[in-house]
Amino acid sequence: MATKKRKKEVGDKEEYSIYDLPGVGEVTAEKLIEAGFDTLEAIATASVYELKETVGLTESQALKIITAAREMLKMGFLTGIEVLERRSKIRRITTGSKNLDTLLGGGIETQAITEFAGEFGSGKTQICHQLSVNVQLPEDKGGLNKSAIYIDTENTFRPERIMQMAKALNLDEKKVLENITYARAYSSDQQMLLIDKVKEIIREKNVGLIIIDSLTSLFRAEYIGRGALAERQQKLNKHLHALQKLAETYNIAIVVTNQVVAKPDIIFGDASIPIGGHIVGHTCTYRIFLRKAKGGKRIARIIDAPHLPEGEIVFSITNDGIRD
Ligand SMILES: Nc1ncnc2c1ncn2[C@@H]1O[C@H](COP(=O)(O)OP(=O)(O)OP(=O)(O)O)[C@@H](O)[C@H]1O
Ligand SMILES: [Mg+2]
Repeated sequence: MATKKRKKEVGDKEEYSIYDLPGVGEVTAEKLIEAGFDTLEAIATASVYELKETVGLTESQALKIITAAREMLKMGFLTGIEVLERRSKIRRITTGSKNLDTLLGGGIETQAITEFAGEFGSGKTQICHQLSVNVQLPEDKGGLNKSAIYIDTENTFRPERIMQMAKALNLDEKKVLENITYARAYSSDQQMLLIDKVKEIIREKNVGLIIIDSLTSLFRAEYIGRGALAERQQKLNKHLHALQKLAETYNIAIVVTNQVVAKPDIIFGDASIPIGGHIVGHTCTYRIFLRKAKGGKRIARIIDAPHLPEGEIVFSITNDGIRD
């Protein structure tokens, strides 16, 4: 008999388990497993009659989970119409700055990974804080009316700052904090594991945004030297693909930050590059560079966006949060 197992390890193939089927809770799952229907494949190929007789489901229940299992298994193959349908569900979260929203084509997109790269103090963490507040706004105010998950690798999340930003938007400060699910990651392995385990929270808490601040700091600290570079890049690549999958499957926005390092072989032009190199650059849908400017202002530049023009805008970080 199959042992009770809450979730299968998320590999590239086994994305879903029977626990993801509609209306299948602990009890039904146990019955299914006991009757030998312990994988989606087994359920997808079962007949309504079989499930009715051996598991004791009603006909409509059986039909529903068989259909759902078949749907889940073909994930990865979509028709053009299905892609169009999925893309029609893309929503945007305001950053708090009209200029920055415009640069991004209307705000931070769901179903995409947006990377903010820049030197220390350029505003990456401030933007992360602001977005985890703004995602909670109603849709007509630039939010998704959803909650946020905040993965912090540098211990720079500050609830007090969240409350400041919430207050400026006339939101209930305590409620806003409650709607941010926080995890501190201490190693790159743990960071990746958190993303593997995040699905349940996404559904339970109606999550619309996942923040990772910073995406690369732990990888950078752990994989040192030329010899470790290939392994680091491989892991980052896997991590980013898991994130992209989450973004598309659950229609959520993913925002990651990245520090820049000086590029020794460049004398003219841009002398700093984001960590993680091409892998991060190519996998993230949007890459925004931030830099400090005079008078406490910040400059944001977008590059390589699939359908947005390159451009630069100015925004500021105020006591109330991110503004023009
Ligand atoms: N309450 C506030 N009012 C105005 N400006 C603030 C406030 N809080 C922070 N800032 C500004 O934000 C800056 C810090 O930015 P932030 O922490 O987002 O940088 P970062 O890009 O995440 O840097 P790092 O690479 O070190 O993580 C401060 O230097 C300050 O200028
Ligand atoms: Mg920071």
